[in-house]
Parts: sequence; structure tokens; C-alpha cells
Amino acid sequence: MHCTKQVLSDLLWVGADDRRLTCFEGVYGVPNGVSYNSYLLLDEKTVLFDTVDKAVSHTFFDNVAHGLNGRKLDYLVIHHMEPDHAATIEDLIYRYPDTTIICNAKIKDMLANYFDYDMSGMIHLVKEGDTLSTGKHNLTFVMAPMVHWPEVMMSYDLTDKILFTADAFGTFGALNGHIFADEVDFMRDWLDEARRYYTNIVGKYGPQVQAVLKKASALEINYVCPLHGFVWRKHFGDFLEKYNLWSTYTPEVKGVCLAYASVYGHTENMANILAAKLVDRGIPVEMFDTSVIPASYIVSSAFRNSHLVFAATTYNAGIFVTMENLLNDIVAHSLKNRKVALLENGSWGPMSGKLMKDLLSKLPGTEFIGDTITIKSSPKPATLDQLDAMADAIALDINPHLYDVKETVAAPAAAAEAAFVTKAVANVDPTAFFKFTYGLEIVTTKVDGKDYGCIINSAGQAADGDPKTVTISVINKNHTADIIKAAGKFNVSVLTEDAPFSLFQHFGFQSGRDVDKFADADYDDRLENGIRYIPRYTNAVFGCEVIQSVDLGKSTLFIANVMEAKVLSNAPSATYAYYHAHIKPKKAPVTEQKEGWRCTICGYFYEGAEMPDDYVCPLCKHGKDAFEYVPAVKVEKKKGFICKICGYFEEFDGPELPADYQCPICKHGRDDMEPAEQ
Ligand code: FEO
Repeated sequence: MHCTKQVLSDLLWVGADDRRLTCFEGVYGVPNGVSYNSYLLLDEKTVLFDTVDKAVSHTFFDNVAHGLNGRKLDYLVIHHMEPDHAATIEDLIYRYPDTTIICNAKIKDMLANYFDYDMSGMIHLVKEGDTLSTGKHNLTFVMAPMVHWPEVMMSYDLTDKILFTADAFGTFGALNGHIFADEVDFMRDWLDEARRYYTNIVGKYGPQVQAVLKKASALEINYVCPLHGFVWRKHFGDFLEKYNLWSTYTPEVKGVCLAYASVYGHTENMANILAAKLVDRGIPVEMFDTSVIPASYIVSSAFRNSHLVFAATTYNAGIFVTMENLLNDIVAHSLKNRKVALLENGSWGPMSGKLMKDLLSKLPGTEFIGDTITIKSSPKPATLDQLDAMADAIALDINPHLYDVKETVAAPAAAAEAAFVTKAVANVDPTAFFKFTYGLEIVTTKVDGKDYGCIINSAGQAADGDPKTVTISVINKNHTADIIKAAGKFNVSVLTEDAPFSLFQHFGFQSGRDVDKFADADYDDRLENGIRYIPRYTNAVFGCEVIQSVDLGKSTLFIANVMEAKVLSNAPSATYAYYHAHIKPKKAPVTEQKEGWRCTICGYFYEGAEMPDDYVCPLCKHGKDAFEYVPAVKVEKKKGFICKICGYFEEFDGPELPADYQCPICKHGRDDMEPAEQ
């Protein structure tokens, strides 16, 4: 019996879940199952986008027949030939022999490789930018080589702004009756599996993913329809940001992925001691036994974290087998720019440290922290000192101000301790104040039952005492400033380094006068003052009562007593410098730049040689002094060759590449490179 889901009035999901698959691609465990997505467009012409794995073919064909409801199938668009999406094409053609297949030349070749049935007479070839009208809908095609195979392409429906993305933006996990990502708490419950899917399936091809993201950034997108996992219609920016981080090999968090391989527990003992020392220093640790946890989970954690620690015993004069497999996997996925520390064990001839270092040195941008720590059979007292030194080196690399804070925490003077502890207002956790940096916060308040919030970069402790006081400064043009004056109270949520740029856009680049910033919030966390706070991407919250406000002209300084304070997480606070370096998206390469002024706060661009003195940024409300002058730029294109297989661009000024040239990504030779300019 059919089991379909409506995506839009004329677009039906006709895919299926598979919860019996033990290993996706024969290697990646999928304990939560997987979905194979196929979509049926019911326009004047009918269009099926991809098929499914043979394991779910029965339901799939029931779904297609139900969706068509007696109509013929006019088009099959094939985006990707991997059998989890293409295995049932031949069966489909037997059932719907009048169908025209829309695909590119590489897909046509693969059809002939995979199937005995000659489909060549049914094929309509398309290339980048070609279009197809199906009645109300107009489709155009976007080539996406190596996301995840060389033949991959995407379709864009110009009518409803739908991007069919093939494997991109997929996730492991069966849909379990849902179809849209906003029907679940994706970032809380699904992100880990989405990361494991991306890093293991597509992780090697970051430059190719970046090339497609660049193309997609020129499109207005209302819906994203991948071949696995959910359809996106809301909050896609959160997921897109993760893709930007993953495909540029940028860590999501400053933390440690610690993986160990231990035969009789002594190497594990050493790894546990190091983990404890790191956590004592406030460093987040994700820890894995490589004999128990499949490599795909550890690869995913290695992409997520900034620092990696590997601990392995020596085995047959090499690296213990499960660790060797893991490191080969990480090297195969081309992870870049990580800080690495190593621990080794070897009862008579320790070798694993050197061999691990040799393997990981192949990865661009790898930096090793400290010397490899060696034990022979088991850790000794001297090992503890070495582990202390390693924990310090890693922790200081992550948090250079570690010991500024540690002094205050570990050895407070009696008077200071008294100030922190005995005089504290009930409900005020004094350690919450350690989260303040010159950083970014969300201030929230409430009037007449309506919630408001905006981004600030000015919160800090003003005075110790009973109660403690904080100050914040809010731009007068921000609606939140008026609301705080009316409410007399506010909360401050301190943002962390993993906060996505979309959160800053949401609370910083629109006004509470125009929109209800909490309309779509899937949380309703409040302090005792009844005001909301932000429970995710934050590490502390303060409930405050205004005792004085000072008009500074452009801003109002609010001085407030702290009536409640609590720590929400151990994640590092996002400093203003970190925001600019890592959270705010980098400017795309400029091909042509008009003369104008760019807002240094939110990036808004004002076109023109002169800017009026009283100009106010329409997005973030900062004045002319927040803008920087941007001169006109003309950029000449670079000459070179583009790989027909994977899309890699090799800059080269000459008529022909050297005869022994090899593409560094897909390893194809000169014959597969064609002249191009970028
Ligand atoms: Fe889901 Fe690359 O196939």
C-alpha cells in the first residue's frame, strides 16, 4: 500500500524509509535507519525526481502509481546514479516505457554501465543552465560534480524556488512519518547524524561542495529537497552554515575529540587521565574507544572539534588495528587544519606514536601539540606530569586566558570568596560572571505579555556586592531599548562560539517593531522574572532589574542589579573578535565591486561615493561612523583548466598542462582538463 507525503500541492514525496539496513554503503551503521527520497511533480507534465534503493522498491512503485493516479509518467529526472537512488530505474522504465529520461552525459554513460536495457533512445541530455518547462513549472539544471559522485547534478524549480539537491543536505535516519525538518528539533536531535552523513559520505569533497554552495547562493530558495532526510522550508540558514563549516574544514567548536585504542586497559587509563585533566581545565572532550565505536562516529567528531588526541598501543610493530583503520579513514576524508596530540604505548618497542604522526602529517594544516607521550606497558608517576603538561598545552591553545580565570576560581582570597559566596543574592551563581568577555549577548525583555530581544556587545559586570550589578548598552534606535525602559528589567544570555550566524541575523538584523522574533521559537525558557532567555548557543544567563539608565546620545546605558544568574553550558563565550573571525561569513570572492560604504556591524552595503552624515544603517541602526569606505574594484579572471570529472580549477597560463599533470582531487589526467577562466 502506498505511503506518501505532500510537500506542496503539486509535489509529492514518494520515497520510503529503510530501518533494516545494517550498513549504508556497506560500511556506515544506520541504527536509526535511512530514507530514500523521490519526488513526484504533478504539473501539466508529470516529473519523477530520482528513484530509490531496491530494498524499498515495492512501496516506491505503489507510491508512484498512487501519485500518478492513472496519468502517464512524462519525465524521470536523474540527479545521481548511486544505486541507493538509481537501482530501480530499469524497473521503472519497464513499468512506464514512454518516459523521457532527463540527465547529463555522465549519467547517460552510467545508465549503460549499470543496466542491460538500452535506454539511450529515451534520453534527453541536459547541461548547466538548460531549462525544461513542465507547464506551470520551469526547471533548470545545475551541475554538482563530486557531490558525491562525478555525474551528480541538481534541479532548480524557478516557479516554487525548490532546489533538488541530490545527496547534499541529506542525513542518516528514517523520516518516521515526518517530511519537513521543522517538524522535529533538527539542530538538537538530528544534527549529529547529519554531520556523520556529510563528513563520511561527502567530507572529502569540500572544495566541490563549496563550488555548488557558491552557485546556490545566487538562487532564491524556498524549499530544499535532498535524496535522504528532511525537506527544508524554514530555518535552512542554520543547516547551510554547518555545511559551510564542514566543507571548509572549519571546526564547529573549540574542544577535543579523544580517541584511543587499548588492548589491556593501560592506554585507556592514560587517555582517561588526560581527559580528566582537560575537563578540569574547562575543555570539552568527546571520547571514543576505537574498538567499540565505529570510525564514522569518530570521523564526525574529528570534523566537529578543533583539537584531536589519539592514543594507541603498538601492535605487530604497527598501530593497533582499530586506530590504524580510524586514522586511514580520517586521512581518506582529507580533514584539514586540526591541532593534534599523541599518546603511545609499547611494552618493548613503542612505535605507534611515530606511525600515527607519519599518517596524520599527510593532512594539510595539521599542527602537533607537544611531544608524543610514551608509556611502556602502564602509566607511571612521571606520566602524570607529562599528561599535565599536555593538558596545559592543549587547554592554553584553546583558551589563552585559562589561567587568568583559573587563579580566580582556584585560589580566591578569603575576602573575594566571601564576596562571591556569602554575600551573593539567592539564585545567583557567581561562576556565571566568568562567562563575560568582550563578547556578544542577546538581551531579552517583555512588556504587555510580548517578548522582545536583540543582540548587544556590551554586557559586563559593573560591581561586586549584594546584589551584584551589570551594565548593558543598547542603541536607542533599537526597539528593545524602549521596551527595557518600559519594563525596567531584562535578561542577558551570553552567546557561545557555536552560535550560528543566522541567530545573529535573527536577533540583530531585524526590528521587534516589524516582526515577532519569538514567533517560531521552539523553546520557552524563562527566568523567575518571567522573561525569556535563549537556551541554545549560550553559556550563562542573568536576570536583571534596572536601577539607573543613562542616555549616551546614540545609546542608553542600563545599570542593573542581578537577581538571578546561572551557568547554562561549558561552551566558550563568543568574543567579538571570534565572531568576526569565525562566525560572520567571509565575503565571497568579488568579481566586480561598485564604489560604496559597507556597515562593519552587519555588512549592509550602501552604494555611492558619498554617504550623508545622518545616514542610519537600515538593518542594524548604526550610524555613518560604523561604515567603511569600499572602493570600486575590477577583477580580472584567472586563466587555467577545469577538471571535467570533479570540477577542480587549476590556475595555469599556457596552452596546455604538462603531459604528466594529474588532478589533485580526482587524480584524472590532462585529457580530462579543459581550458577555463575563473
Ligand atoms: Fe545517497 Fe551518493 O548516494
